[in-house]
Amino acid sequence: MSETAFQPRVFSGIQPSGDLHLGNYLGALKRFVTMQDQGIETIYCMVDLHAITVWQDPTDLRNATRELAAGFIAAGLDPEKSILFNQSQVPEHAQLAWIFNCVARMGWMQRMTQWKDKAGKNAQNASLGLFAYPSLMAADILIYHATHVPVGDDQKQHLELTRDIAMKFNHDYKVDFFPVTEPVIEGAATRVMSLRDGSKKMSKSDPSAASRINMTDDADTIAKKIRKAKTDPEALPSEAKGLEERPEARNLVNIYAALSETSVDDVLRDVGGKQFSEFKPMLSELAVEKLAPISGEMARLMQDTSEIDAILHRGSERARAIAAPILEQTYEIVGMVR
Ligand code: TYM
Repeated sequence: MSETAFQPRVFSGIQPSGDLHLGNYLGALKRFVTMQDQGIETIYCMVDLHAITVWQDPTDLRNATRELAAGFIAAGLDPEKSILFNQSQVPEHAQLAWIFNCVARMGWMQRMTQWKDKAGKNAQNASLGLFAYPSLMAADILIYHATHVPVGDDQKQHLELTRDIAMKFNHDYKVDFFPVTEPVIEGAATRVMSLRDGSKKMSKSDPSAASRINMTDDADTIAKKIRKAKTDPEALPSEAKGLEERPEARNLVNIYAALSETSVDDVLRDVGGKQFSEFKPMLSELAVEKLAPISGEMARLMQDTSEIDAILHRGSERARAIAAPILEQTYEIVGMVR
């Protein structure tokens, strides 16, 4: 990790909307665990306020928040080592977001590709929250003076906006108060693609359930989805260059590399020349071996949601202890009478 003048602190978040899928796991959650185990202060959040920028049924939202927390813990996040909580229990996020709404420019927000994709042609009918989404995301990060943010590739533009907001705030108020955050987008699976279409990312919102592997899928479902995954008729190449024009093949090899914690080159050294009929069962076996213990533990944790709620509440108290003084100083800088 690169050096900044601020003490290193990691923040990241995942939305509790829909099921946690393999893209979330490999692009984000698995890497959250690695960073926790590097001995840096780590803060991880279930961003329920972001989730409601599009409609969420209240019962489903509550359930998805607890299930996501179970997923965090089952994947290896330790509530003692990392601070784990849901965003709405730390009101400082929304309070700082308001200030950032007054720093960020309309033009910056209008350029966000995720806004354009999600609002689509019907932007007039999208919520104001969806438009302001990246400003709340900047607040999530900067309310902790976080310096490093592990995310998948699709969040890169939002993190650039976070840097722009921090720099404009520092410039306008003539302070060096907010850090200019580093995105940490690393590994073989920063962009896991749909199993049905190698040009689309794996996503919660894809109508086809066969396009993604959910963390709660059982072994048979995982095997079936991988068996049906779109591929081409060629054998696998022996070098990464041979995957350049083959998005579906590249995706499956990337997933294999990320799950086995090796590089694409190492995987291809072993499987180069094999047909998909041979490679797919290998990938299924590996996916089941790595994911089944996580889904089993998630199901066990979900049997006692009061324990999950207690963990989130304790986490939010620890988070507020960091966030509240930073909000106070921000108000001071901005000129609010306290
Ligand atoms: P969300 O909930 O869509 O996704 C959570 C994390 O999973 C990553 N991800 C992927 N990585 C690889 N391949 C994929 N197909 C894939 N799909 C999702 C995302 O990049 C992300 O890291 N805006 C964020 C949540 C957020 C946040 C934050 C993140 C809110 N505040 C502050 C970091 C810091 C989001 O919607 O992620």
